[in-house]
Amino acid sequence: MVVSSAPGKVYLFGEHAVVYGEPAVPCAIERRARVTVEARDDDRIRVHAEDLSLNGFTVEYSDGSDDAPDVDVSESLVQAGIGYIDAAVEQAREAAGEPDAGFDITVESEIPLGAGLGSSAAVTTAGIDAGTRELGVELSAAEVAERAYRAELEVQNGEASRADTFCSATGGAVRVEGDDCRAIDAPDLPFVIGFDGGAGDTGQLVAGVRALREEYDFAADTIESIGDLVRRGEQALTAGDVEELGELMSFNHGLLEALGVSSRSLDQMVWAARDAGALGAKLTGAGGGGCIVALDPTDSTETALDYTPGCEDAFRAELDTDGVRAEAE
Ligand code: MEV
Repeated sequence: MVVSSAPGKVYLFGEHAVVYGEPAVPCAIERRARVTVEARDDDRIRVHAEDLSLNGFTVEYSDGSDDAPDVDVSESLVQAGIGYIDAAVEQAREAAGEPDAGFDITVESEIPLGAGLGSSAAVTTAGIDAGTRELGVELSAAEVAERAYRAELEVQNGEASRADTFCSATGGAVRVEGDDCRAIDAPDLPFVIGFDGGAGDTGQLVAGVRALREEYDFAADTIESIGDLVRRGEQALTAGDVEELGELMSFNHGLLEALGVSSRSLDQMVWAARDAGALGAKLTGAGGGGCIVALDPTDSTETALDYTPGCEDAFRAELDTDGVRAEAE
């Protein structure tokens, strides 16, 4: 039996536009998904998930089996979670050259599912690391990132950037532009996160932006403008100019709103953060519901979010410099 964990992340800038080759800057945060894997002596997969949302679930299946999952949470939540775990299992089997390996898998996550904090990338990354190690193969963080990216591509119908999975595999702040992924230096930023208790479907949201971009020039221009903004943001990051970073984050939120990926509760939390004096605030991740990230060194934003209708939880997040790692069993 082996255990691996990997961090979630927030996007300082650039989600969605990164799918079209623009740069993005995600930062790993100290909230992790932990995946325990134990090889079985048949080809079945049994998944027990805890804390993916408020309820856990257990599913057991094998290829070609028509067993109905025995679950007590919504079908779409299960499908989303199982899709990523399934794709991670396939990658681990392929890396180890054991196509029929069966596993008992337990997922424990501090990251709400589908809420923009990179839960799927963290589960996929930790799952591939644990699955391969259980089969006696050690992959580098770069190899785990590559396989996790392929797994996400499969689940998201061929539309995913390398940003989420690379950040989760390596930790820290990273810059991703197309296939070019690298670590960057970032000061410890005063992140405050607001969570509306909801979730968005990344695949659907990415497809929605693609449809808008195909129909309207303004959407294609907006995506390019996000790229310009990210390049300015990188300069502010290098200069340690936290005030400009905040301002650019707020601009980035406006551009994401124009692409139709915000929601009433995300906008409400962004405005509550701004009114409380945050340096800046934006939705993070695919959007549609889930989380915002604000910059505020004081307690004001967290307190304001606690009283904001539509905000279920507000908390501080620290940059996590550790990526995917083996945990003690
Ligand atoms: C989702 O966390 C981030 C998106 O940019 C999709 C991706 O990069 O694969 C919306």
